[in-house]
Amino acid sequence: MFIYTTKTSLERHLKAFRDQNKTIGLVPTMGAIHDGHLSLLEKSLLDNDCTVVSIFVNPTQFNNAEDLEKYPRNLERDVKTIESLSDQIVIFAPSVTEIYQNNTVSESFSYDGLEFEMEGAQRPGHFDGVGTVVKKLFEIIRPNQAYFGEKDFQQLQIVKKMVEKTGLNVKVVGVSIHRELSGLAMSSRNERLSAQGLEQATYLYQVLLEAKKRFDSENPVKVQQFVESEFKNNPNFDLEYFTIADEATLKSVTEKEAGHKYRGFLVAHLEGVRLIDNISLN
Ligand code: PAF
Repeated sequence: MFIYTTKTSLERHLKAFRDQNKTIGLVPTMGAIHDGHLSLLEKSLLDNDCTVVSIFVNPTQFNNAEDLEKYPRNLERDVKTIESLSDQIVIFAPSVTEIYQNNTVSESFSYDGLEFEMEGAQRPGHFDGVGTVVKKLFEIIRPNQAYFGEKDFQQLQIVKKMVEKTGLNVKVVGVSIHRELSGLAMSSRNERLSAQGLEQATYLYQVLLEAKKRFDSENPVKVQQFVESEFKNNPNFDLEYFTIADEATLKSVTEKEAGHKYRGFLVAHLEGVRLIDNISLN
């Protein structure tokens, strides 16, 4: 197992691969590694000669100090989980100072409007923080390919846009949502749910599947009304938003247009945990 906390020690390891024109895959994470992360790592292991996973709880993407403080951190456990998949994966677990020196602030990005929709509207500054850290990681690791889960579909589109705009030479690969057998999308936040909460949370995917079925024959407004009324009748959840958006622009739509791809995006609170999920509708 290779674990590095500094850029220079990591670079020493990666240089041997670069010198032989071998490919490097990167899976950026904030730790609390679960099977969803492992599915990204599996893909990278298949595609590349060397796979790096970064474990870094990025302060600039949190707009709530308590959320940042509460974020689960357990490097020892993460290392064991990663090791169970392969002992060839390189772990990069830097300190905040290693990444930001003494200037823990975000760069300001324009993502052509993607940043104003959904999560961007709910969490001001969040995507500047994500763009900042992902750009730094890309510059440090210089991966050929980087893997992001479709659970955070908006983040995936934003990272693709950041790469397009900055001209960084990395292919951003989206990997489909990894779900529990129950259908619940895997997430580090699921750890904060009780056993009963974990069972109740499967409701999210059930509603998304029903929305997808209805989307075949109903217009987006009708489907949205259906989802909102389902949540109104379920006292366990507090629905933050459900919206149907164009995959390319992430703008909410009220009508379907031929040739466009649509997704339903859902955020709901259960037991004080903010759960996020989405589904491809066509
Ligand atoms: O999805 C995450 O875990 C984070 O937003 C990321 C991409 C690792 C950046 O900190």
